[in-house]
Amino acid sequence: MQVIKTIFKWIGRTILLVISVIVLGYTYIYISTEKRLNKKYRFSETRLAIPSDSQSIEKGKHLYQIRSCGDCHGTSLQGGIFMNDPLLLQISAPNLTKGKGGLSPEYSSRDWIRVLRHGVDKNGKSLWMMPAHESNTLNKDDLANLIAYCQSVPPRNNQLRKLKSIGPIGRVLMKIDRVAVLPAEHINHALPISANPPATVYETGKYLASTCQSCHMHDMKGGSALAPEFPPVPDISAKGAAGRWTEAEFIKTIRSGKTPEGKILRKEYMPWQNMQSFTNEELAAIYTFSKSIH
Ligand code: HEC
Ligand code: HEC
Repeated sequence: MQVIKTIFKWIGRTILLVISVIVLGYTYIYISTEKRLNKKYRFSETRLAIPSDSQSIEKGKHLYQIRSCGDCHGTSLQGGIFMNDPLLLQISAPNLTKGKGGLSPEYSSRDWIRVLRHGVDKNGKSLWMMPAHESNTLNKDDLANLIAYCQSVPPRNNQLRKLKSIGPIGRVLMKIDRVAVLPAEHINHALPISANPPATVYETGKYLASTCQSCHMHDMKGGSALAPEFPPVPDISAKGAAGRWTEAEFIKTIRSGKTPEGKILRKEYMPWQNMQSFTNEELAAIYTFSKSIH
């Protein structure tokens, strides 16, 4: 009897210990992620004149497409639910028009500039999952044209549910930096906007490749899968299979979703269909940039 009692006592203690460790660990993760979610960023605002001529708006439309804004905000800027997983993350990508459910009538160019350059809301807190660390690299003309286009899109009524919460798995992934939830953490807020468009083919490629780098990484060498059920991200630098392709083969791969080796790129993991707005020159520039990396 005594032995059984002792065993039960020890099992009880072990369970209690495990639970305490989990509770303490999660409390620590909760507090430290809460601190990051609520951090306020300070910076000096960028001033920019937004054009209204049709040529600038047309250029802005092209940028909206190749910078993949539409993947999350929709092709008519109507918005959409970006992720709805209570354990991970629940967040909607807002309706960016001034229709019902969209931006407030007072939403100004200053707000657009703040979001796209710094990735923060009115209170200076980082937005969630909005890739402002990519739009932050846009030069003056491109940023102004992009905003001009977005403001020119007619109002769309789309009253989305305003989702914004992060679950326990989301917090753990955020804590170990497996998911870049907060764009403002990845921006150098002191860096002024560039006034110069890229001067060479290589520079153009580097500039445009920011859309690829969120998955293929900064060095274009890819890496492990982005999510549990995803394939690993291939190396598209000179060292990978793509490094052996000609420029024409590289462009054809993005156009057709099929590599010269005959591998079919699955559009759920590699969004090649959404990349069709890139011109051949732009894809060739990205090729030049990736191929320069050894
Ligand atoms: C990966 C998905 C994704 C992409 C791509 C994306 N956004 Fe967003 N965007 C979001 C989400 C999610 C939010 C809301 C963030 C929040 O509420 O914290 C957001 C917020 C915004 C806001 C702020 C709206 C407000 O209420 O203040 C603007 C403006 C915006 N995005 C414009 C753009 C533009 C322009 C592009 C392309 C350069 C773009 N977004 C690309 C997901 C995305
Ligand atoms: C959302 C993440 C994501 C983005 C953004 C992305 N890729 Fe990919 N890419 C992948 C994944 C994942 C694969 C592997 C797909 C598969 O196995 O079906 C891939 C495969 C490729 C391949 C085939 C490589 C090979 O060796 O088979 C090329 C080329 C490529 N991507 C180029 C690009 C370029 C250029 C861009 C930017 C314009 C880009 N990708 C943006 C995730 C991405």
